[in-house]
Formats: sequence, structure tokens, C-alpha cells
Amino acid sequence: MVEAFKKIIGPSNVLYGGAEKARFSHVWATDVPLTAKGVLLPSTTEQVSKILALCYQHDVEIVVHGGLTNLVGATETTSNQWVISLEKMNAIEEIDQESKVVIAQAGTVLEHLIHAVTEKGLFLPLHFGAKGSAQIGGVVATNAGGMRVLKYGMARNLVIGIEAVLPTGEVISSLKKIIKDNSGYDLKQLFIGAEGTLGIITRVSLRLFELPTSRYAALCGVDTFKKVTRLLRHIDRELSGNLSAYELMWQSSYQVAVSAASDRSVPMHSAYSYYVFIESLGNDLGSDYIILENAITSAAEAELIVDAVMAQSDREVENLFHIRENTHALRQPFPYTQHFDISLPVNIMDVEITRIVAELEAISFVEGVLPFGHIADGNIHLVVGKSDNKLAHSQKIETVVYQNLKKYLGSVSAEHGIGLFKKTFLDTSKSKAEIALMKTLKQAIDPKNLLNPGRIF
Ligand code: LAC
Ligand code: ZN
Repeated sequence: MVEAFKKIIGPSNVLYGGAEKARFSHVWATDVPLTAKGVLLPSTTEQVSKILALCYQHDVEIVVHGGLTNLVGATETTSNQWVISLEKMNAIEEIDQESKVVIAQAGTVLEHLIHAVTEKGLFLPLHFGAKGSAQIGGVVATNAGGMRVLKYGMARNLVIGIEAVLPTGEVISSLKKIIKDNSGYDLKQLFIGAEGTLGIITRVSLRLFELPTSRYAALCGVDTFKKVTRLLRHIDRELSGNLSAYELMWQSSYQVAVSAASDRSVPMHSAYSYYVFIESLGNDLGSDYIILENAITSAAEAELIVDAVMAQSDREVENLFHIRENTHALRQPFPYTQHFDISLPVNIMDVEITRIVAELEAISFVEGVLPFGHIADGNIHLVVGKSDNKLAHSQKIETVVYQNLKKYLGSVSAEHGIGLFKKTFLDTSKSKAEIALMKTLKQAIDPKNLLNPGRIF
């Protein structure tokens, strides 16, 4: 296989025999070594196609790597598998200002893409903490969410075309620039959120928006959860379309986050039960600030908030949101952590998160429970700190967190996906019939189960 791969992509793009370990780890921001046979670095769709056709012929398993920022083990490998990394396919091929579409190769780092379209006066609203490493192919393959889902939707809502290579090597290409296309099945949806199990995304076309000219933010201290949800409706109404993010940190999470932010000024002391981060994006530099300020003032008058600070410059907004985005800081106090990414209907969230936190805190090996998340989307993250990494202990924690998801029609993964880590809990969020249909699709498209095997189910 090594010689055959070298023929397709050139010897320097086949990292093998130890060379791969020097450059690749399994997981974001760790040095967990790669256990794969080797790493392949194709530069074109044609090369990806040839590699997959060859692997299909010889029953070779492939795991796809993007920016390695996932949190569900999706990029882990075993020693019989080869990695295809898309990092060399990082060209932004076209920014069509008239159609408001960007076409980019899968390995393009999200932040580069955002900067490139911004220079053309256009806006790609995807925004999350990992954007400096995450690659757009992975962003789309995992249907990433982030901070602005309440206004712009998940990655899925921005994708208008995809080119992907099937496990057999066949290329499915539909890099259209049109938003409306009802010509039969919407095949691109097969690859969005499929976690690389049905094909390798090689190019995407994404929908862009006019670049907002104003960006403001506010941080509010709130004393009850009921007021957090009432404040959301208040702010949404008052900002008339400009509300682009409404993020929540419970007091425990905020406390840990600001204690890590030693080099930044702490915007508000940590005496309140809840901290709401609000972002406004609009097109009127002067009045948008006043609109947000008035909304905050009227929220204070209605006793929805007990404290607030506002951020005026781009830098101030970034600094404020950094407190919410810096999830690494939430892991620091603990020897080991577990991450959760659940969805719940907003109306039962208070009761359910309170139950989860209380039950977890009563467990001897749990050292801390830090909830935060995208409250407007019903998506709560939990970082659970623990004193050891024993499997039975992890499972106990998972049982506490996941036990009511089915009853409440929630989801085991709001945005991070299933990967390897959440497979056993897929049935909390999908019915038997749905899982069977998913398996039928996988079987039809990847009959030998060679592409990202073992992910999702
Ligand atoms: C966040 C990532 C962890 O919301 O999803 O910060
Ligand atoms: Zn998130």
C-alpha cells in the first residue's frame, strides 16, 4: 500500500514508519500519539478519489482528519488504519461577491475563511472557540454549531454545495451557488453531520451574508434561571433582529473561567447565579449601541438583571466572549474531565440541570460540575471534573447526565456529534427505526465499512 500511495500523492506526502508520529496526534491540544499505520496528505480531489478506490479494492480502513478539534474521539485510529488528512487542500477557490458564495477546499481553516470573506465585505457567521484550528471540511462533516446558531443556524444552514468522495472512490460533486434547488433528493445532506462515515468532503460552497458594520456585546448578571429565559425573549424583541448570540454560564463555570483570565480584566465579579453573554450584530454603528443599551436598561428596570457591562469595540467584544469560549480554562482545576453536549427543551432545562448537578456533586470521585452553553438553542455543555479516569466512574457520570434525555426528547449530542465516545447512548436520541435506517444508508454507501469505521455506531 505504501508504494501505491506514493505513486498517487508523491513520497513526501506519505508519512510512514515514525514520520507520522512526529507531526500528528489523535486529539486536539494533546500529545496523545497517533497509532495509525501512516498519514496521507492528498492535494486534490482526484488524489483522494484514487486513494479511496485503492483502499476499497484492498479492504484498507481510512480515518479522516481535519483540524482535530472534535471532542468525541472521532479522529482516533487503530494500528491497522490509515489517516487521510485534508490539510494540504486549503485553497479558497472563489469568493463570488455577487452570488454571496465562497467555495473552499475542505482543509481550509475556518478562521482563514472568515478573514478572507471579511476582506471582501462579506460575512461567514460561523463562530466557536476552535475556529483557529477547525477546518471547514470537518466543520461541515460534523455540522458544527457554536455561538450564532440562534440567528444563522448550524453549519448545515450555510452549506449550499458539496463535493465529496465516496468510499468507493466515486466523486459526488455539486458545488452550486444557488440557494434553492429542489431537483430530487438533497444529497449534500448525506454528508453534513455524517461525521465522515459516508464520504470525504473535499470542497464546499457556503452562503455568505452582508458584513455587519456594528458589533456590540453585553454581559448580564441574573439571579434566577426563569429570568434568564425571560431576558432572552426581552432582548430578542428589543434588538429587532440584531441578536446574534445569547450564551449562558452558571456561576460555578464563570468563577473558574474568570479566575483563569488573570491577564485580562475581569468584567464582573462572580456573585450572581447566572451570567448571560449577549452579542448584537447590525448595520447602524450609532443606533445599534443605543438599542442594546436601552434593552439592557429596560431589563434592569423590569428586574430581569442585577448587573450589566457593555463592550463597544471589537476587541472588547472578543475579550468578553473569550471568557465564555475558553473551555480549556474549565478543565484546568481538575485531574480529569468529562465533557457533555446535551440538548434539552428550554422549559425543563432548569429542573434537569439542577438534578444533574446535584446528583453528580454527591458522587465521591466528582470534583466539580461546570454547566454553560448555548441556552437559546437548548444546548448545554457540562465539564465534569473528577479525581480519576476509571471506566466505571465515567459510565456512572454518563448515566446521571443522560438518564432523562429520552423522556424529555432531548439529544445526547447537540453539536459535537457521536464519534466513538457516545455510541452506546445513541438510543437516547434516535429510535430503533431511525438507527436501522442510518445503518442502511451506511451499508449502501460503504458496504465494506472502511471509511471512518466505528464512528456513530
Ligand atoms: C463550546 C464548545 C465546547 O460551546 O462547543 O464552547
Ligand atoms: Zn458549544
